[in-house]
Order: sequence, then C-alpha cells, then structure tokens
Amino acid sequence: MRSGTNTALRPPHGGPGLPQVRRLVTAVPGPGSTALARRRSQAVARGVGETLPVYVVAAGGGVLVDVDGNSLIDFGSGIAVTNVGNSADSVVHNVTDQARRFTHTCFMVTPYEGYVAVCEELARLTPGGHEKRSVLFNSGAEAVENAVKIARAYTGRSAVVAFAHAYHGRTNLTMALTARSTPYKAGFGPFAPEIYRMPMAYPYRWPGGPEGCGRQAAGQVIDAIRAEIGAENVAAVIIEPIQGEGGFIVPGAGFLPALAEFCASAGIVLVADEVQTGFGRTGHLFACEHEEIVPDLIVTGKGIAGGLPLAAVTGRAEVMDAPQVGGLGGTYGGNPLACAAALGAIATLEREDLAARARLIERIAMPRLRSLRGRYPFVGDVRGRGAMLALELVADEPPPAGQAAPRPDRAVAAACAAEAHRRGLVLLTAGTWGNVLRLLPPLVIPEHLLVEGLDVLEEVVADIARHRYGT
Ligand SMILES: Cc1ncc(COP(=O)(O)O)c(C=O)c1O
Repeated sequence: MRSGTNTALRPPHGGPGLPQVRRLVTAVPGPGSTALARRRSQAVARGVGETLPVYVVAAGGGVLVDVDGNSLIDFGSGIAVTNVGNSADSVVHNVTDQARRFTHTCFMVTPYEGYVAVCEELARLTPGGHEKRSVLFNSGAEAVENAVKIARAYTGRSAVVAFAHAYHGRTNLTMALTARSTPYKAGFGPFAPEIYRMPMAYPYRWPGGPEGCGRQAAGQVIDAIRAEIGAENVAAVIIEPIQGEGGFIVPGAGFLPALAEFCASAGIVLVADEVQTGFGRTGHLFACEHEEIVPDLIVTGKGIAGGLPLAAVTGRAEVMDAPQVGGLGGTYGGNPLACAAALGAIATLEREDLAARARLIERIAMPRLRSLRGRYPFVGDVRGRGAMLALELVADEPPPAGQAAPRPDRAVAAACAAEAHRRGLVLLTAGTWGNVLRLLPPLVIPEHLLVEGLDVLEEVVADIARHRYGT
C-alpha cells in the first residue's frame, strides 16, 4: 500500500450492507484522497476528466465511502450505471461464481451460455414483440458504432442522422455523432463522414414554445432529411429517447412517434440509444416506452450489468442478421463475467421492480425541484423522468432577443455542484453549455437518503442564490 491511503478507515465490504448515512469526517476531498490525486497527476493522462476527486474504497445502496472515511450520498450512480446499486448481492454472487469457473474463452472462439442468456433476456425485455437478435460489446460507444454498421449493412445506404445536443460516445464515429465540441471533439478530427445533424425538440428552448415543439421539430427534421440528404440515402436515424449528456432533454411530445413513423415509411432504421436511459432508469425499463415507440434497433449499456462493462445492440432479426459472419464481434464483447453480472442485475431489476422505484424517486424529487424553480429565477427549467431528473440553470435576466429562454449559466451550475460535493453529495453536471445539474441516484437508494440529498441540494441552491444574487 502506498502512502496516502488509510487502511484503518476502509470498510471491509461495499454493497447494500454499508451504513446508509452521509458522514463527513474530513474536508472533501480529505488528506487520503489528496495524496492519491497527487499520484494520479504523475501517472494518469490529463485528458481523463474527474467530477469529484474523492477516492472510493466501498460503495452500496445510496452511498460512496472514500479513503478518508467520508460517506457521501450518491446522486450519480457512476453516470447511470449502478441502477441496482453498487456491489449488488446478485451481481457479486454471479460474478464470483463465474470467475471461479472461467473468466474468458472469447465467444467467437468457444462460446458459453451466459452470452446467449443475456441476448434472450434482451429480446424479452426490449420493446416490440417481433423476432429479435442481439450482439454484445464492451462499451456504449462500441455498441453505437456497431448499430450504425448493422443499419448500413441492412439498408445498403450510408447517411446517418443525429441530433443537436446528442451524445453517443468518444470513438471516431461516435464523436461524429456527438454534438458538443469541447471537451469531446475539439482537436480530434477529422471525423467520420456522412453524419447529418438535425434540430432537437428541446421544449425549454424551442422558439415557438414548448406546446408545439415536438410536432414542429419533427416537421423541420423530416423536411430537412428529404431535401438535404434524400431519405433514400439514409441508413439510420439515431436518437436518445431522453438526451443524457446533452442535458436530460425530454423531447417535445409527439417528436419520437413522428420520427418513428417517418423512418418506417422511408425504410430508415430507427436506432434508439438507451445507453443512459435504459434498465429502469426513467420509470419504465426503456425510455421508448413512454412514447410507445418501437425502434428497429436499441442500444443498451451502463445499467445493464450492475457496473461491469457490457453493452448491446438488440433489434429486428432481419436487420441484425444483415452483416456477414465475422463482421461483428470483438475479443471481449459479452465477456463471461459481464454476462453473469447482467443476468444478476436484470433479475434484481425485475424482482425488486426497480422501474417502480424510479417512479417513486420522481414523485419524491420532482415537487421539490419544481419548488426551487418557483423560488429562484436562475433555476430556468426542471425536467426528466423517473430517476433521471435535472435543473437547467440560467442567467437571472430576460431571454436574449429572438430566444425562448435566458442564457445558460455554466458558472452557477459549477458552483452548485462544487458546493454539493463539499457537503457530501455527489452531484453531476451535464448539458451542451454545462449548465444543467443532473440527478441520477441508484434506484435502490433508501428514501431517507434521497430526501437528505434533496435537502442538501436545496440548501446549496439557497446559499448560492444568497451569495450571487443577494436573494
Ligand atoms: C446515450 C449514450 N450513448 C453512448 C454513451 C457511450 O457509452 P460508453 O461511455 O459506455 O462508451 C453514453 C455514455 O455516457 C451515453 O450516455
């Protein structure tokens, strides 16, 4: 053990048995974390970002415990991954058992049942009663890339439509699909060709107001696809049914169904990127279900495997089976440990009805977030579904001429997040302008901890309002 880590303070295990309390015994970050941060700066590349430099030794339920013995409330879930909690019993049991049997053979060399079982579960759980196939990967970005490959192989077309504020990953093709330049794209071009960006139905900032947003945006997108790309050249339209990194933007009502209808009529493969929204996060197993759309392909990741790296593309059998044998795959895709974890996580999601827990989280949190909007003019918008909720923070001034909403205020969002961290609440930001505070608690967070986290958020917003605006 190197200097800077205090083994005496380490709890023996994480998981749901950890005391579910917020407890600060040092400043955040404390001395142990600060020492590790110094080591990190000498060893880890600068380009890997960091939200809160506390070094975790255990996590479970709704808390993260750091090397200094601080126990923080987790409103991040490792970016929407630990829906079933960290070190969930079913995941730990399955992974341990699998690791004792074998860790890897490569599914493309000598296969194993776990991979097949995960694909069967994906066929059962994803929207639509049609015949389906799946293929497994290591990360959301890798799965998105492969969804595009599959759509191109099926249609024989090359163009791909993505949206403003989209985030699909950091590989070359997914950088091209991702909208935001800094930090995701700046300096990393040239990007993959044949990607076309269309406006998003963003109700808060839609020039015509939120009511007509979905319908009007769909009309604009469909017109632009026909006129500027030619529908007959489009392989895929890819969309997050609720945008994640782009700021938890819930598309205006009717937008997704209109796109789905258009894609079906034009022979375009509709790809739903549910990497962030999937596995109960939004109050349904998949966010597409809120709008009752059935995508041709659905990309999943993050919450699928309780923290182990796994992602998937699932979809119509005839589309999925278009690529030639050997055209899909990878050394580790659908690794046995990750598949075992996924089977445990899925069983837990269903047994504990965690989608219903997400709806409960929304029922508890949403009125409190709305009351913040009512009290503080810099809280411009409150949105989201289930346990994927956000506050968009804006300048306390009228919208600029011709715009529907005030200027985004990134600084106030950063100040709120930093203050929440100091008080023991892990809170993430998001948004094209970095001005959105997002709440992504584990779906298993105990109610008292959720309420305490919301209390902290409320105190932080009130204090920032007092300091910045004297209100
Ligand atoms: C909607 C969406 N798609 C794709 C990705 C990329 O996933 P990964 O980071 O596992 O490559 C993310 C990650 O945040 C995401 O939110």
